[in-house]
Amino acid sequence: MASDPLDWIDDKLATLERSGLRRRLATRLGPQRVLLEPRDERPLVNFGSNDYLGLAAQRLGTAVRRSLDQTGWGSGASPLVTGRGEWHARLERELAVFEGTAAALLFPSGFAANFSTLAALIGPRDAVFGDARNHASILDGCRLSGARWFTYPHGDAAALSRQLEQSPGFRRRLIVTDTLFSMDGDLAPLAELAELAERFGAMLMVDEAHATGVFGAGGRGVCEASGVERAVHVRVGTLSKALGSIGGFVVGEARLIEWLANRARAYVFSTASPEAAAAAGLEALKVVQEEPQRRQGLLQRAAELRQRLQDQGWSTGESVSQIVPVIVGRASAAVETAAALRRRGLLVPAIRPPSVPRGRALLRISLSSAHTPQQIEQLVAAFRELRA
Ligand SMILES: Cc1ncc(COP(=O)(O)O)c(C=O)c1O
Repeated sequence: MASDPLDWIDDKLATLERSGLRRRLATRLGPQRVLLEPRDERPLVNFGSNDYLGLAAQRLGTAVRRSLDQTGWGSGASPLVTGRGEWHARLERELAVFEGTAAALLFPSGFAANFSTLAALIGPRDAVFGDARNHASILDGCRLSGARWFTYPHGDAAALSRQLEQSPGFRRRLIVTDTLFSMDGDLAPLAELAELAERFGAMLMVDEAHATGVFGAGGRGVCEASGVERAVHVRVGTLSKALGSIGGFVVGEARLIEWLANRARAYVFSTASPEAAAAAGLEALKVVQEEPQRRQGLLQRAAELRQRLQDQGWSTGESVSQIVPVIVGRASAAVETAAALRRRGLLVPAIRPPSVPRGRALLRISLSSAHTPQQIEQLVAAFRELRA
């Protein structure tokens, strides 16, 4: 009898198991917040969430319930057909006002926004230049575009400059980078990238997924904090991290947004998110604008945490943000450390390849403005014990 065509998966899973890379699905009980209730375990303090401003569980839930009475749930079709409702349109207007751009476009997720925007802007006659640690959604967009793809070493603007110098003759060129790197918590050299984009006549696209709501005096992200907003042609963000909801967005010139509405595949061929998600996004934008103390306090406590961990002898890499990596090297060391923290009532995810380069596994601490000082003390004390 012929073997089952899916048998290869058993071998692959066994290989993942042996190298400490097999992931298992976890289910929590109750809402996603700083204290989690896993199944069959005592509560864990959650240092694994991207809900950096602590908005997801309560504040936005109230906004969603209000909008549900008006809009119901599913959107039923892609935005170009019948899926785009008044709440979507309102959020797009508010996002454009917040970001100081002419227009904005909502996508089902940040992942969808990145990969389909890239494929709409460049094609096989073009070249794309990306940081080696860009998010998977950017890598997939580069692949999907069919453009010639140059990767420059992480944060290395000089290497990018050489690549641009040596690659004339393409129809269009586009530089793309995360602004705040999601695993290392460090920042792209945006001022240098903006200067290179201008010098070489390239488009500059950035992904502010982890920075929107956290960085910049107005909470608009690292472009704002670095003073380069005007020099960036395509700004991608997500509602699903500090803004506590779900859905991606792109902001920029009106012609860019109109082109994406016509050509970005995840916009054209995917159902619009529920309007209630847009209602949550609107509420989150209000909080970001009215309560700057949330992000200011968050970055302050992140700086303090990094210092205390470094004083204990841990490496927090180049982090300057609310994402604090504790770099341990081997994947198995990361898994063991995460398990030891879990036994102490703390959830800190072990990040292993392919999310980080081989030999650079880490514990990724995500701070939220909702963590209490006691919870942070508990974390610091646990790391001190593990060091002893
Ligand atoms: C840098 C970056 N960009 C984009 C995304 C995707 O955003 P979303 O979760 O909204 O799909 C993520 C999510 O992890 C991310 O880390």
